[in-house]
Amino acid sequence: MAILLDTDAEADAWRTALAGLDPTLEIRSWPEVGDPREIEFALVWRPRTPDFAAFPLLRGIFNLGAGVERLLKRRDLPESVPIIRLVDPVGLTGPMTEYVLWQVLRLHRRGPELEAMQREKRWDELTYPLARDRRVGILGQGVLGSDAAARLIALDFDVAGWSRRPKPLPGGRNFAGEAELPAFLARSEILVVLLPLTADTAGLHDARRFALLPRGAGIVNAARGGIIVDADLLAALDSGQIGHATLDVFHEEPLPAGHPFWTHPQVTVTPHVASLTHAETAAPIVLAGIAALRAGRQPADTVDRKTGY
Ligand SMILES: NC(=O)c1ccc[n+]([C@@H]2O[C@H](COP(=O)([O-])OP(=O)(O)OC[C@H]3O[C@@H](n4cnc5c(N)ncnc54)[C@H](OP(=O)(O)O)[C@@H]3O)[C@@H](O)[C@H]2O)c1
Repeated sequence: MAILLDTDAEADAWRTALAGLDPTLEIRSWPEVGDPREIEFALVWRPRTPDFAAFPLLRGIFNLGAGVERLLKRRDLPESVPIIRLVDPVGLTGPMTEYVLWQVLRLHRRGPELEAMQREKRWDELTYPLARDRRVGILGQGVLGSDAAARLIALDFDVAGWSRRPKPLPGGRNFAGEAELPAFLARSEILVVLLPLTADTAGLHDARRFALLPRGAGIVNAARGGIIVDADLLAALDSGQIGHATLDVFHEEPLPAGHPFWTHPQVTVTPHVASLTHAETAAPIVLAGIAALRAGRQPADTVDRKTGY
């Protein structure tokens, strides 16, 4: 039996990492699929495989990243085949937490204003609240949101998390579901988006939601561009309702050259680099998932196709 490797990113690194862990693995890199009846598992990121139903003995599809919205849009995923997303504490969660800390600290300490002051050779003693008085809201208290929240709490920030179902947030406060979203937003001076893009979260942040934030709030979107309505964000920035937006993800990527985000003085753009998959740390996790499926167990990070994450 063989493993199909169909990724448009770091394919060589994946081959090396997998072969280094288990030299007996037969890895077939797209498009060299061979006999489709021999494909037991597929390891994919933006796959080019036209039809997963063509692999009759497929036992699992491993998404080589955390977000599965693009994969779930496909119509050729056999119902019986589990989809497993990547949860990698060292290679994916840690770097995302670094990004969130970097951007929250930058907004907390008024970094964009200080950077503008240097450009203008202007000396002004900008004040800032203590971390314990700065209210940070993390939208999405999952793998990534929970880790970022814990580290912000360790830095003494006043942190709240928002999830679909209620769950504890040690040292902070949890809000859950649509009903508690307005109260959560009302206290979020810095809002970090770490939600999956699903039917429920698409376009969640529109003019109505921006209006619920404290005036001048900062936003960090490290999840998916589709969660935010761009035109409404631009209007909220121009009106001063949002003070600054740090955006790593966009409706269209790469962000088109003419998009107003590129040049807006209150927008920081990073090119979807908040957290990148590292084959070296992720390969053992994928192989553990394969071993679990072979032993008849469902890997912990199996996607729920109904909720979309
Ligand atoms: N920019 C980048 O480089 C980058 C890198 C990696 C990941 N990402 C993005 O980050 C996202 C989050 O990853 P993750 O691993 O933390 O996901 P996760 O573990 O599945 O967590 C998702 C969180 O969102 C909550 N949620 C989902 N739908 C909701 C809804 N309708 N209302 C309220 N809360 C809702 C979940 O609530 P429950 O806890 O109640 O289920 C959970 O707390 C990924 O889907 C991906 O799009 C971006």
